[in-house]
Amino acid sequence: MANTVASDKTVSYRELGFVNTREMFQDAMKNGYAVPAYNFNNMEQLQAIITACQKSRSPVILQVSKGARDYANPTLLRWMARGAMEMMKELGRPVPAALHLDHGDSFELCRSCIDNGFSSVMIDASAKPYAENAALTKQVVDYAHPRDVTVEGELGVLAGIEEHVSSEKSHYTDPADVEDFVKKTGVDSLAISIGTSHGAYKFKLKPGEKVPPLRFDILAEVEKRIPGFPIVLHGASSVLQGYIAMINRFGGKMEGTAGIPEEQLRRAAKSAVCKINIDSDGRLVMTAVIRKVFAEKPGEFDPRKYLGPAREELVKMYMEKNETVLGSAGRC
Ligand code: G3H
Ligand code: 13P
Ligand code: ZN
Repeated sequence: MANTVASDKTVSYRELGFVNTREMFQDAMKNGYAVPAYNFNNMEQLQAIITACQKSRSPVILQVSKGARDYANPTLLRWMARGAMEMMKELGRPVPAALHLDHGDSFELCRSCIDNGFSSVMIDASAKPYAENAALTKQVVDYAHPRDVTVEGELGVLAGIEEHVSSEKSHYTDPADVEDFVKKTGVDSLAISIGTSHGAYKFKLKPGEKVPPLRFDILAEVEKRIPGFPIVLHGASSVLQGYIAMINRFGGKMEGTAGIPEEQLRRAAKSAVCKINIDSDGRLVMTAVIRKVFAEKPGEFDPRKYLGPAREELVKMYMEKNETVLGSAGRC
């Protein structure tokens, strides 16, 4: 199924009903909240994200990773996203939605997404030396901006291991670099590393040890150097322990998990952090509910009977995030 670069004719994101992130971030900055960026790989996740954000009147960034494109097929994903926009219109009062490439790792991938209906892309060259990161990010910006597509860059490296995002150690963002990077590249937003990481195992804690606080001092220093500039937080799942317990109760084995405490995300959302990325929490919800159905109804074999309840629970979780963590509910 690997098919990374779609090849059909250029499609503008406006035709698909999306917006770029510029106005979203301006409003988030002005009003002290963060726009949710939720990843999707399949129909149920996408339905849940759209339903939750429409119900809670929250703008939303629909995030597609390279892995998601390889899994679901880039063309199908794009049409699914378009279908979600049409569904929202039919339901009435659609909310602003961006279609965003998460962790793009090459100019070619970013260009393919821009040509195929994405309104926003991330070029993640953060593991490369500074000058290479800046040059590649600028190359993407130079292609994106004439098409009115917004670009997210990254400075600093997050730890965490996922299919396409893998780094053993984190390197905090050096605030001394941000002003030059933003000026040199022309990016619209900047992902920084202040202690979050990807996945469900964010911290190796000894028994009794607490999750270390995020480096709000680095965030404050970044804000001072680039006032009013939109900051992005990756690796921001809280790794909700209720779902971990449910997974383990129904036959799973996830030990030593830890995420970012919700009150720290709330604090970040009130700052220049305008976009908060959440994927793992959605994965945990789906896994927990599906495991429960399988354990309680071992004869069940209709996918709608386990994916449906998982979707319902996802809607609840996303609404809760919008309302109580990101502060994005009721903003549109
Ligand atoms: O930050 C990475 C996202 O959680 C996407 O993960 O590359 O496994 O789709 P993925
Ligand atoms: P989590 O693994 O914490 O959900 O982070 C997701 C993310 O950063 C997507 O880019
Ligand atoms: Zn990420």
